[in-house]
Amino acid sequence: MIEACRLIEFPQKGDERGHLVIVEGSQDIPFDVKRVFYIYGSDKDVIRGRHANYRSEFVLINVAGSSKVRVDDGKNQKVFNLDRPHTGIYLPKLIWKDMYDFSKDSVLLCLASEHYDENEYIREYEAYVKLMAQGREDGI
Ligand code: TYD
Repeated sequence: MIEACRLIEFPQKGDERGHLVIVEGSQDIPFDVKRVFYIYGSDKDVIRGRHANYRSEFVLINVAGSSKVRVDDGKNQKVFNLDRPHTGIYLPKLIWKDMYDFSKDSVLLCLASEHYDENEYIREYEAYVKLMAQGREDGI
């Protein structure tokens, strides 16, 4: 599952007037975007996220500054550095994610495949690990 988390390079149409980066739903990323939110002003020692989602897929892009994203599938972990406005990370559903190490100027743009629904968030890590272990046993 962790292999499904991947960096995506977005098309760029920069010219002498500046940069322009394009992210088209279901073309440059694997889903249609239903929700956009962004995170800024988080201190370096803050850890955000700390959850997994039953249904939502995400693409995270540091449109300014940098941050790190640790992804976890209940068995394996991987860390991605987000530090380029034209590169995002794709996160499928059921991936645990921690965002941290925010630079002062970090603006982390999050594109989501679903509208916000607190009921589809798994916020207890132990419960998440159990769920994923059960899923592996059941061959899901
Ligand atoms: P939270 O999930 O803790 O943010 P993060 O994943 O960035 O650490 O969300 C913070 C608060 O904002 C929480 O009360 C839920 C609310 N929220 C919404 O209402 N809609 C949203 O789309 C998001 C992402 C959060």
